[in-house]
Amino acid sequence: MRILFVTSEAFPLIKTGGLADVSGSLPAALRALNADVRILIPGYPAVLKNLVNLEPLCSIENLPVVGRAELRIGNMPDTGVPVIAIDCPTLYERDSGPYINSLGFDWEDNPIRFGVLSKVAATLSATGSPVKDWMPDIVHCNDWQSGLTPAYMKLSHPTTAKSVLSIHNLAFQGCYDASMVERLSLPRSSFQVNGLEYYGQLSFLKGGVFYADALTTVSPTYAEEIQTAEYGFGMQGLLDLRGHEIKGILNGIDTNEWNPETDPHLAKNYSDTSISGKKAVKAALQKQFGLQIDANAPLLGVVSRLTYQKGLDLFVETIPSLITKGAQIAVLGSGEAELENSFKALAAQYPSQVAVTIGYNEPLSHQIMSGVDMFIMPSRFEPCGLNQLYGLRYGTPSVVTQTGGLADSITDTNTLTLADGTATGFKMTEVTTHALSVAISLGLAYYQDAKTWRKIQRNAMNIDISWKHSAQSYLDLYTTVLAN
Ligand code: ADP
Ligand code: GLC
Repeated sequence: MRILFVTSEAFPLIKTGGLADVSGSLPAALRALNADVRILIPGYPAVLKNLVNLEPLCSIENLPVVGRAELRIGNMPDTGVPVIAIDCPTLYERDSGPYINSLGFDWEDNPIRFGVLSKVAATLSATGSPVKDWMPDIVHCNDWQSGLTPAYMKLSHPTTAKSVLSIHNLAFQGCYDASMVERLSLPRSSFQVNGLEYYGQLSFLKGGVFYADALTTVSPTYAEEIQTAEYGFGMQGLLDLRGHEIKGILNGIDTNEWNPETDPHLAKNYSDTSISGKKAVKAALQKQFGLQIDANAPLLGVVSRLTYQKGLDLFVETIPSLITKGAQIAVLGSGEAELENSFKALAAQYPSQVAVTIGYNEPLSHQIMSGVDMFIMPSRFEPCGLNQLYGLRYGTPSVVTQTGGLADSITDTNTLTLADGTATGFKMTEVTTHALSVAISLGLAYYQDAKTWRKIQRNAMNIDISWKHSAQSYLDLYTTVLAN
């Protein structure tokens, strides 16, 4: 089976969040199951620089605004997965992030940049594709950035290939002025409720939701949640209509990249049977962060985008009382200025107990996931969430809300789950500061009981969170879609 996996970010080439982790690891897992996968991604400077064996593939004509772009093909540096990069400097050769400029604002031509990504994907799947010797059977799109691909495939690029759209986060919908429909060479007639129109605007994501042959999201619980007004961000009606078709497949993780036994970023490696190295990682982290070096002080960690979604404003409110209980806090993240400032103020107030790094730092993210005792993730919504999965693998139990992938991947600790060996973390009963305090306090109480804590860590580390099962679920879905 040939699969074109269309994405706007992929680790280790370029990453802003979990989509990059998934795009870096799922295609490799599909390849291990004998699928013939190619990734399609914009040729940002970091992509063109880091791909190996890069060579010209073909030119693509008739693209909106830019006319023509060159496609290059290479391989992922670590997994060897083939990657097609769209080499179009006008659109992608920019400093700063893939979506925002150095001032933190969206690039204003994002609809063109990702409209072109979507159109190139459709062109490569169409009967007249310039790449004759590799036609995909499945075009797997991800989030709004490639959401127009299924629309192009249905409206202007006839193909026998089928499209699958994975929703990683419904909060980002790619909404733009209606005039974009024509600028992106989409038929005017498609701008209607049964098409691309969404509350008077063009929505890339709605285009995908409406035209894709199959829809998935990144956890079973989120698949249910997005059909409700609370989590549907206005799209619940359409999603509800397609309800039975939305398959929730829980993300896996790259078990090579996230492996406490071999992780090169850790002061000491360790495993579920010999976990003492985790203490050395904690001590190194305390030292690096200028925290008091104390093996017994419970250390709580955060690695996150600092946005409303992540609920970390609730954590900020609990920190003063945690400090009085002798806890330490290590935070790595960036995002909304107000949250960044709140964390920085706490670090200034309690320098030996709270450490905060604002920014993006891949090695430090591994050190925190491993070196802290508990990971804090009070998300208001979380389609899947990867850090709690990394926490499982590193023997770092998480405190989480009961939403999306957090609900599906963490089992609350209580007498029953301790007895049957399933306890792996702590679940808040609601999304409030009080509920977070209660869940953390419970965690701290268990932490004092070394034997039970070790049991929870062992339960967590023994869960198979590799892509093996989920990649097979995607293959099964592709097979079903092709058969229909
Ligand atoms: P989301 O994609 O919503 O941000 P996920 O939990 O799915 O949330 O994935 C976040 C990914 O980004 C994880 O791999 C996490 O370690 C990483 N990450 C988030 N913030 C930072 C940061 N400041 N530095 C390094 N890695 C980060
Ligand atoms: C999104 C979601 C996150 C998910 C990630 C990868 O960024 O916010 O929950 O883990 O996509 O699917």
